[in-house]
Amino acid sequence: MSNLFRKKQIGDLLKKKDGGGVQLKQTLGAFDLIMLGVGAIVGTGIFILPGTVAATHAGPAIIFSFVIAAFVCALAGMCYSEFSSAIPVTGSAYTYGYIVFGEIIAWLVGWALVLEYGLASASVATGWSSYLISLLEGLNIAIPHSFSGPFNPAEGTYINLPAVLIVLAISYLLSRGMQESAKINKIMVFVKVGVILLFIVVGVFYVKPDNWQPFMPFGFDGVLAGAALVFFAFLGFDAVSSAAEEVKNPQKNLPIGIIGSLVVCSLLYITISLVLTGIAPYTDLNVSNPVSFVIQLVGQDWIAGIISLGAVTGMMTVILVMLYGGSRLIFAIARDGLLPKSLFKVNPKNQTPVINTWVFGIAVAFCAGFIPLSKLAELVNMGTLLAFMIVSIGIIYLRKNKDIPSGGFKVPLFPVLPILSFFACLFLISQLSINTWIACGIWFVIGLILYFIYGRKHSRLNN
Ligand code: ALA
Repeated sequence: MSNLFRKKQIGDLLKKKDGGGVQLKQTLGAFDLIMLGVGAIVGTGIFILPGTVAATHAGPAIIFSFVIAAFVCALAGMCYSEFSSAIPVTGSAYTYGYIVFGEIIAWLVGWALVLEYGLASASVATGWSSYLISLLEGLNIAIPHSFSGPFNPAEGTYINLPAVLIVLAISYLLSRGMQESAKINKIMVFVKVGVILLFIVVGVFYVKPDNWQPFMPFGFDGVLAGAALVFFAFLGFDAVSSAAEEVKNPQKNLPIGIIGSLVVCSLLYITISLVLTGIAPYTDLNVSNPVSFVIQLVGQDWIAGIISLGAVTGMMTVILVMLYGGSRLIFAIARDGLLPKSLFKVNPKNQTPVINTWVFGIAVAFCAGFIPLSKLAELVNMGTLLAFMIVSIGIIYLRKNKDIPSGGFKVPLFPVLPILSFFACLFLISQLSINTWIACGIWFVIGLILYFIYGRKHSRLNN
């Protein structure tokens, strides 16, 4: 029984003996990380949620929903930063769990994160596909109906082909190496932040302050429920910490990367929401493309087209970083022996775990192609919040460990802030639906079966 809770030794990890010599190349600096963060965070969320959540839950007070969600993420983000600067190894919350709570908890956190990264990439790919299809329609190019949605013969759709293709294309890019991917990611981030700024600069001239009345039509309850939904829009910043082994000077650069990308995104989200709800009454915003919709409403069709193009680009970077995070997580789990060895093999030419990238990419492409992901979206939030809770409370145990070098980033107001972070995440989980709890339970049962059949016997800690 006790070997279920066996722990990794921090000293070994820091000496990097643990990987048996398997090393990833250290190429990323603070600016790369902020780019990676903004690339991961800004995606479907900003282009869809400010409209739909304002219309159905929060009204113009959605800006408070964003502030609350950002606050929860910033708390968890600081805990992530302390962990990732103390233990700059790949695997993020999974590895932290292994050090402070032991193997079985680590495995479950890892399993929850595989769900988060996998479903987030897949659902963003399906969102990307619908934006692309409508953009192409605007240019009079039609994708056959049967290839444009999940497997649903009653509706006449069999596969979401654009979603499958984009996941496979990005997997190919990732399999070529991180340096290449970071370069392309940077260009795409500039494009998407560019179109968001374009929206703000053009839109601000059409704002009518009357539209902000009533400001909080659904009361504060609506704002809180809205916060649990727009939380999705901040997902991805934890992927930054999964790049830890590929970062130069991680003690300094990782916290800058995590907090910096959260700050940039919060500012963008709040400004976009203000402009959006200022241009049109919140009741009109329940559409799938609210950002380009309101710009069309004020007669700026050209700008609306440019914004749609930017949205398509923006979603691609989210898929890239989510696929990257998932593949590096599986790399770390396999290196520990809990998943088959072939998943941590590094290709000597470009120093990338190629097999692992393709296995994960193909699984995600399958989900994106055949499964309607709308119902599963909440599961993504659940997996993430569970991981955040473990990381937050883990800080208290981390501080007790004297093997850790003290120079790195430290969470301020210890221990109040980590405890607050834990309960804030718990609160958001309590806002999720019962179906999500059940689906999540099933996923964990499958995970436990896998662990007892394979992981426990093959764990490196057996040696
Ligand atoms: N934060 C990511 C998005 O909004 C998941 O698309």
